[in-house]
Amino acid sequence: MSSLPQHIAIVMDGNGRWATQRMLPRVAGHKRGVDALRACVRHCGEIGVGVLTVFAFSSENWNRPPEEVSGLMELLAVALSREVPQLKIDGVRMHFVGDRASLSERVREGLEQAEAATAGNTKLIFNICFNYGGRWDIAQAAARLAASHQPITEASLHSAMAMSHVSDPDLLIRTGGEQRISNFLLWQAAYAELYFTDLLWPDFNEAALDAAIADYAGRERRFGKTSAQVASPASARPERQSMLSRWVA
Ligand code: FPP
Repeated sequence: MSSLPQHIAIVMDGNGRWATQRMLPRVAGHKRGVDALRACVRHCGEIGVGVLTVFAFSSENWNRPPEEVSGLMELLAVALSREVPQLKIDGVRMHFVGDRASLSERVREGLEQAEAATAGNTKLIFNICFNYGGRWDIAQAAARLAASHQPITEASLHSAMAMSHVSDPDLLIRTGGEQRISNFLLWQAAYAELYFTDLLWPDFNEAALDAAIADYAGRERRFGKTSAQVASPASARPERQSMLSRWVA
């Protein structure tokens, strides 16, 4: 197993608390969150991570105070116009994942332009989940398959989902001290290694990402197998299985 996760996913939690602790409006925390995200994208590119997926706005975030929702929309539009030129130079390919139908035309155009501008890049795939929910993704994939009369199987669902362009995440990080998935990558995170840190997202930096990766490197990924099988695939040989099955009979 490679000690470097090929695909890292992050729930960037704690912006609001970071701001409140400093008597700032919550949106100031999100703004600092963009700075932390920029550093994280750069670091992933430098160390050779292939895919970074972040949860920037959930399907449920519409329930936040209107000024925070509009602040996040504005922040996205501003961040795109500022960051895309450098991301383009750095070889980062951007993908927006989520339901675009209820986004404003301005935001939608911003996403499309960012994707088009970086479409030729191959160094790092950067997925930004925006107006995204894991349940939404599973439901929209099933609905599309049903509408085209295709069978619903694990493989067909996987390929109809919004993250079908990348492999599943190896490491899923959540900052901010909470230990839950919150409707993020429900399908794709089936075998992700989970890593929780109390750091608030604006305080998450390169060293914190390295610490998460070092923790991941010490995990044993078994994908349903036993530890012995992972250590020595020969222990899964059929003749050995039949010998062992005598103990079960
Ligand atoms: C969760 O923290 C964070 C979000 C809902 C938004 C994440 C967005 C960014 C990091 C900025 C990048 C996004 C764009 C739009 C480019 P929280 O507000 O729930 O924090 P809390 O748990 O402390 O209240």
